[in-house]
Amino acid sequence: MTTPTPVEDLDEAAAAAELAALAAEIAQHDEAYHRQDAPLIDDAAYDALRQRNTAIEAAFPALIRADSPSRRVGAPLAEGFARRRHREPMLSLDNAFAAPDFEQFCARARRFLALPDEAPLRFVAEPKIDGLSISLTYENGRFVQGATRGDGIEGEDVSANLRHVAGLPLRLAGEAPALIEIRGEVFIAKADFLALNAAQEAAGEKPFANPRNAAAGSLRQLDARITAARPLSLFAYAMGAASAPVAASHAAYLERLRGWGFSVNPLSRLLDSAAAAVEFQAEMAAARADLAYDIDGVVYKIDDLALQTRLGFAGRAPRWAIAWKFPAAQAHTRIEDILIQVGRTGALTPVARLAPVNVGGVLVNRATLHNEDEIARKDIRIGDTVVIQRAGDVIPQIVSVLAHQAPDAPGFAFPETCPACGSAALRPPGEVVRRCTGGLTCPAQTVERLIHFVSRPAFDIEGLGARSIAEFHAEGLLHGPADIFRLPAREAEIAAREGWGPVSAAKLARAIESRRRIPLARFVYALGIRRIGEANAKLLARHYGDYATWRAEMRAAATIGSEARGTLGSILGIGPAIADELVAFFAEPRNLATLDELAGLLEIAPAGDAAAPGGTLAGKTLVFTGTLAAMSRAEARARAEALGAKVADTVSRRTDLVVLGAEAGGKARRAAELGVATISEAEWLALAQGQ
Ligand code: IVH
Repeated sequence: MTTPTPVEDLDEAAAAAELAALAAEIAQHDEAYHRQDAPLIDDAAYDALRQRNTAIEAAFPALIRADSPSRRVGAPLAEGFARRRHREPMLSLDNAFAAPDFEQFCARARRFLALPDEAPLRFVAEPKIDGLSISLTYENGRFVQGATRGDGIEGEDVSANLRHVAGLPLRLAGEAPALIEIRGEVFIAKADFLALNAAQEAAGEKPFANPRNAAAGSLRQLDARITAARPLSLFAYAMGAASAPVAASHAAYLERLRGWGFSVNPLSRLLDSAAAAVEFQAEMAAARADLAYDIDGVVYKIDDLALQTRLGFAGRAPRWAIAWKFPAAQAHTRIEDILIQVGRTGALTPVARLAPVNVGGVLVNRATLHNEDEIARKDIRIGDTVVIQRAGDVIPQIVSVLAHQAPDAPGFAFPETCPACGSAALRPPGEVVRRCTGGLTCPAQTVERLIHFVSRPAFDIEGLGARSIAEFHAEGLLHGPADIFRLPAREAEIAAREGWGPVSAAKLARAIESRRRIPLARFVYALGIRRIGEANAKLLARHYGDYATWRAEMRAAATIGSEARGTLGSILGIGPAIADELVAFFAEPRNLATLDELAGLLEIAPAGDAAAPGGTLAGKTLVFTGTLAAMSRAEARARAEALGAKVADTVSRRTDLVVLGAEAGGKARRAAELGVATISEAEWLALAQGQ
């Protein structure tokens, strides 16, 4: 290999030519690596190419190409995973915690099926592993796609990564329907988890909190090579869509899974009564500690698939299965300290630092203390010996105090100033939470807001974790959210930082670039306004449509009695407390400055009425008033929204249509005053049914 010309000796023409060549060469390697799983060069050589590209771009910023490897979006290396809609939704399970819950589950199923009380039911029992559920699609016996559960309707396409999971056949052995979806759990065994964490720590990386997080983190790697190096396992246990029936019972289905080459949990067992289930539960509770993997209970499924079909689903869980959980694991330990964390909205949350203790297989060294009343109520003090408990995913909690270290010592004094910025921390009457009043000047709040801003439901910027944000903030790279979009220009500087390198810095830059276009709802949520969670952000985006309108309306809403304030209050789901928070946010000049800065750096995509493009009522605002005879308000609202309408609570000039039920009063009069169109319930029904 010839030594490259030092960057400072390149002229513009030479630099442009080399950037073009690098773009093509790096794209070729990306393709070989990501699409064909067959890299042409080793990682160091690849990194050197990228580094050279970055160095030339830093010296000749005007020459950065549209297809530059440093800003490629949507290419094989793109951040994030494609979304995939499951052919059949991936649901959750109802829980049982004791034998009576299980009896009730059986009774409910019998009642639904109109079976006599004593009618026998058979179950398949399967140990419940707390991993990550996935759906695998096979076409003509070949593995074509795998997705995470996501929200149950849509998950993330992690096909490339799943190819590296032990127990997943890429081809089904023997006969299978042309199309079949198979569900199962990806997990990491206990010993593998400990070894993985030891390796993480040795490499200076953060250890995983539990095997489930480790499995999820390992599967959601954008670089399939990392997944390949992680000890992931799979048990298959459920059916999704299938183009032809495969079995008449769940037990027979599990046999088919085994036949096709899947790992099926060998402890799964066919049981012929509820009494047998109670016995199995005790057997598993006793075996639990010695199993190679963590389980948190047993799943019981009614074996007969015809009965399963008849039973169907209630809400998000099947009537034919139940997860019988083990009681929460408890342990005794000592509180070494009580720390006060400052959240994004200034809330002070006490956290106990504990002498590390193993609770049901997980090393625990922190527990939440909720708030100051909780500390007082349980009289929790530093040095106390306490009972802690971990239940499922929940952060460990302190159940009770066993002994005070010094019985006469005073109780814990909750601070009245913010530990991060020293501002007063106030607790409004009637509230349990004490808050720092430092607002935008409090560094802890700023860091938490930035963490929220890049979080999954917000900007979803991969590679920018809490630790990097705190570090970048402390060192002046990040003051506010807009600075995040200035980080790509500092890629070389970041690459040179400790713990970073050209590959991770380039990855981060790409992740940020890929998020410059953002849907309005995510943007609104990302701002971290108090009381504006994902659901409210969606309501606002849907109602106001685009960013400029939203901003203008929120400013106008500051005037009590204004039409904008009335409109805001009329959005169903947006109560006065939420409206106040929005108005307060928009009254703060620094927030407006941040918004304008962001708007200049981003493309905020309008909410676009995806719910019903071209629906009969697209873009219309409806108000229902009076009593409807034919449907509930909830159903009327859902129906109107399905047709593309927004439903409001109060009548204003912006209302397009008022539906008058029986005994409509004030709102009908207001509609008449304002000249807003009204229709009867009968006319509404005709409209709703598309007649
Ligand atoms: S069946 C409709 N079987 O538990 C049937 N789930 O709380 C849905 N899980 O998301 C799932 N072991 O991640 C099923 N043998 C098993 C399971 C199991 C673990 C998990 C799965 C699911 C969650 C539901």
